[in-house]
Amino acid sequence: MSIETVAPKAADNRMIVGTPLLEVRNLQVWFDTPRGDVRAVGGVDLDIEAGRAVGIVGESGSGKSVLSRAIMRILARNANVLPGSEIRFNGMDLTKVSPKKNKHLWGVDLAMVFQDPMTSLTPVLTIGSQLTETLRYHLHLSRAAAKEEAIRLLGLVGIPEPATRFDQYPHNLSGGMRQRVTIALAISCSPKLLIADEPTTALDVTVQQQILDLLSDLQRKSGMGLMLITHDLGVVAGRTDTVAVMYAGRIVEKAPTPELFERMRHPYTRALVDAIPRLSHPGQMDLPALPGRPPVVIDPPPGCAFAPRCPSAQPKCLVQTPVLESTPGTDHSVACFFPLGTPAGDAARQANAAAGTTAAGTVFYTTDVI
Ligand SMILES: Nc1ncnc2c1ncn2[C@@H]1O[C@H](COP(=O)(O)OP(=O)(O)OP(=O)(O)O)[C@@H](O)[C@H]1O
Ligand code: SF4
Ligand SMILES: [Mg+2]
Repeated sequence: MSIETVAPKAADNRMIVGTPLLEVRNLQVWFDTPRGDVRAVGGVDLDIEAGRAVGIVGESGSGKSVLSRAIMRILARNANVLPGSEIRFNGMDLTKVSPKKNKHLWGVDLAMVFQDPMTSLTPVLTIGSQLTETLRYHLHLSRAAAKEEAIRLLGLVGIPEPATRFDQYPHNLSGGMRQRVTIALAISCSPKLLIADEPTTALDVTVQQQILDLLSDLQRKSGMGLMLITHDLGVVAGRTDTVAVMYAGRIVEKAPTPELFERMRHPYTRALVDAIPRLSHPGQMDLPALPGRPPVVIDPPPGCAFAPRCPSAQPKCLVQTPVLESTPGTDHSVACFFPLGTPAGDAARQANAAAGTTAAGTVFYTTDVI
């Protein structure tokens, strides 16, 4: 497959599309807290291939940021990555790489765009100096070449009059423009994998769309892998190849994006899909919300973590924990004893609807859009 080059000319890091890039196996991240161990990530398996985009979706607290920070190795001090966890990047086990070597991987191999652009930008330096510093450090460019490349990158991410903006400070730019600058910084050394953690939640709706389109465009044209983290399933539709839905620190459903939207199997995914506001139903923006809150995972009880909120919950769900399993012959996997669209799942839902309650004692509800 041919790849059009839009990413920096100074570094050519591209890999053949489809080559394994990130392989996460049984990743467990716990935090020491006075209240006990918070099991923020509880055994995640995830693959991202070169040139592919993977969406990670889940409510607040589901472990999305901890997962991404574990990959970048920028976890808080009270974090423990449990033995047996593996994060392979381009064949290298990142859990065993020294902090010094890890720092060299940032920018050139792995890069991250955060929700708040000021996490990556220094207020007292011009955006030009921040870009040229990165380019000179990682790519050893001359001052003049770094400036030329920085201006080219600013233009590439849609900053008008990039040569003028080069000399301005972050506070001279709007939030959307600042986020464009952080994207320019993140892609400046042609990373093989870009992690974008809720890159648009702080921005207004029109700017959100522009930034997401920019990221997708750069990802497709430059052939880098993209991990796009969001709480909104609508954001990953049409922008990713695969979607992984997280709940309480685990992936509960994973499938190629069109397959996930056509045949979602997990009741939690269904609730998230039904919560996407539909522009075609302007009168129905006030959609039924998923009741309850995701659990804080300290000493979790046995059983499925979603059971207290699940309209399909059965007695088995309260005592056994479902594991992520693929449907034979497909790359669609789900962690649920009673998946939607199966005879067992349909029967469970109907039985709860008839009883008006679930095995967890929750009043039966539906998130269906009528
Ligand atoms: N340093 C920490 N110490 C203790 N608990 C933490 C720490 N950092 C994160 N957590 C907990 O880990 C869990 C997962 O947090 P995480 O930030 O990954 O959620 P998230 O899915 O990114 O949510 P959001 O959508 O709000 O960003 C949460 O319960 C959170 O409170
Ligand atoms: S049906 Fe049971 S296993 Fe499936 S999500 Fe609901 S509670 Fe969990
Ligand atoms: Mg987060």
